[in-house]
Amino acid sequence: MAARSGTGSGPDVWQNARPLPSHAPSGIRRASASRMLNRLKLIAKQLLAIVWVRRAYEGTLRAVLEVLAANRLFSLVYSVLSIPSFNREQFAVLRGRRDYYRNLGRVRATRTELRRNVHRLEKGILMQPRRPVFALDYLVETIEFYERATRQHADGADGDIGELTWAYGVLGSYFSIVDGANPVVAGAKARYEATRAQFNPDDNGKVPYRRADSAQSSASYEDLLSLAQRRRSVRWFEQRPVPRELVDQALLVGRQSPSACNRLPYEFRIFDDPEMVKQVAAIPFGAAGYGHQVPTIAVVVGSLNHYFSPRDRHVIYVDSALAAMPFMLALETLGLASSVINWPDFEPLEAKMQKALNLDYDERVIMLIAIGYPDPEGLVAYSEKKSLDVIRRWNDLGR
Ligand SMILES: Cc1cc2nc3c(=O)[nH]c(=O)nc-3n(C[C@H](O)[C@H](O)[C@H](O)COP(=O)(O)O)c2cc1C
Repeated sequence: MAARSGTGSGPDVWQNARPLPSHAPSGIRRASASRMLNRLKLIAKQLLAIVWVRRAYEGTLRAVLEVLAANRLFSLVYSVLSIPSFNREQFAVLRGRRDYYRNLGRVRATRTELRRNVHRLEKGILMQPRRPVFALDYLVETIEFYERATRQHADGADGDIGELTWAYGVLGSYFSIVDGANPVVAGAKARYEATRAQFNPDDNGKVPYRRADSAQSSASYEDLLSLAQRRRSVRWFEQRPVPRELVDQALLVGRQSPSACNRLPYEFRIFDDPEMVKQVAAIPFGAAGYGHQVPTIAVVVGSLNHYFSPRDRHVIYVDSALAAMPFMLALETLGLASSVINWPDFEPLEAKMQKALNLDYDERVIMLIAIGYPDPEGLVAYSEKKSLDVIRRWNDLGR
């Protein structure tokens, strides 16, 4: 992924108001490909509206699925046949892993490897009982990550100062509590102290703290329940701009969400330039019929270059969804409404969005979110939720 500057919480999250890449010579080809796709969609819809066609299609599909889903061996056949559907995702995971390592030496605004290890140190610090020495298996690499980050900072590169200050504080806290007689610890500590020439913030308070010392929240359960009930997917908006400050305020809430190893592997790419909103909202299928009057749209993009292992390939989806929900709730508190727009893993749309947003292969769109002031006269779907007895099971091993 190309290096980006900025911390992600300030105005830098906004896409500059320049037209999305038009790729001029290929623009016409793209427009006709898009028309072709829409035509195919229409033909498919018309065909499936014929009862016997739908029955024949579903019958054939069911028969194939019955065979291929019978066991994992048969599913191998499916894996081969479905390469076109799944290859993009596999490629993205692989690219992400490659770029994780390539990025280690690059100038970046944020360092995922440092975040992960500082997070691990914090967990070691708060462990009960705490061990006299811990983290020996990754201490030296953490110091190397930190040295690179501080060197980059000293060279004047834009970076997330909050992240660096957190690393500084946690490393300092670690060295103050572990057994300094250990030679690995002693060596790492000396290197840490040497970095003060590059980065020596006054603030060393970004360290583990007693729960009892954290600020109380005045939000009650009733407040939260009524907010959750008030938030519904709103698809019809007033035609007035959404203040950027409000979206930023909502993002401050969203980013508080849990995130695996505190990596926050996502970006909210937000568009409020009317032309750009129109272009972006026209890409997914899910905003058909109402996308044209969406005032602001966010494309939540997860990056797989945060992970060296394929076992973490789902984390971008989990982390982004966890951030998106409080973001939308926060919008609601600010008088704004929103609706998620589905992002299917469908090659033609993936290719379109990749071009429109200049996405790298390891960047995956998670969802889109339409944002605006709700049209008070617009209807909202009732969308009954499932009853608790259906979604909750206590101590049920499923046998
Ligand atoms: C992953 C996801 C994808 C969605 N895709 C769309 C979509 O493409 N178009 C749309 O109008 N609504 C979409 N929605 C909104 C859902 O239809 C809506 O959340 C659901 O019906 C429940 O209604 P509520 O949000 O008002 O509680 C999506 C929601 C989620 C979480």
